[in-house]
Amino acid sequence: MAPLIRSAAVPDASAIAAVNPAASTDLLEGRSGPVYVAETDGSVVGYLALQHAAHPAVESRNPIQLWQIYVIPEFHGAGIAPQLMAAALEYAIRHSHDVIWLGVSEHNARAVAFYRKHGFGPLGLHGVGAGDHEHEDLVMSCQVKQ
Ligand SMILES: CC(C)(COP(=O)(O)OP(=O)(O)OC[C@H]1O[C@@H](n2cnc3c(N)ncnc32)[C@H](O)[C@@H]1OP(=O)(O)O)[C@@H](O)C(=O)NCCC(=O)NCCS
Repeated sequence: MAPLIRSAAVPDASAIAAVNPAASTDLLEGRSGPVYVAETDGSVVGYLALQHAAHPAVESRNPIQLWQIYVIPEFHGAGIAPQLMAAALEYAIRHSHDVIWLGVSEHNARAVAFYRKHGFGPLGLHGVGAGDHEHEDLVMSCQVKQ
C-alpha cells in the first residue's frame, strides 16, 4: 500500500521517537522548518525534517537544510524515503529555496548512496551543528530546479 506523506504535528512526537529514539525532543517545536511523516496502515514508519539554515561550504542565496531523514529498517528500499524526499523538494520549490544541503557521516554508505541517487553531490568534510553537537560530516548539496 502506498504510504501517506503528511505534515507532522506535535501529537506525532511519540511516533517519531518510536521510529528514531535519538530524534531531537524539540523536533516539532521551535524548529524553523517543516517535518513530514510517512504512514503505512496508520503507523508512522519514517519522517523527514527540514530547517532554514545556511552552511559556509554551501553557496546559495536561500538554502534549506535537510536536517533529519529516518525510515525504520523494515521499510528501507520500499520507496518511503524517496516519497519523503519528494515532499522536501516540493517544499523547497514552493518556498523558492535554490539549494538543499545536509551533513551525513561519510561512513553511512546507504544514506550517501540514497542522497547521490536524489541529485546530491559531496562538498567535502566540514563541521556541522553547534556547541556540544558540533561534529564533522560529509556535507552534500542539491540544486533545486524551480
Ligand atoms: C537513509 C535512508 C532514509 C534511505 O532510505 P532507503 O529506503 O534505505 O533508501 P533507498 O533504498 O531508496 O536507497 C538506498 C540506496 O543505497 C544502496 N545501498 C544500500 N546499502 C549500501 C551500501 N552499503 N553501500 C552503498 N550503497 C548501498 C541501495 O541499494 C539503494 O540504491 P538502489 O535504489 O540503487 O538499489 C534510510 O536508509 C534510513 O532511514 N537510514 C537510517 C537513518 C539514516 O541513516 N538517516 C540519514 C542520516 S543523515
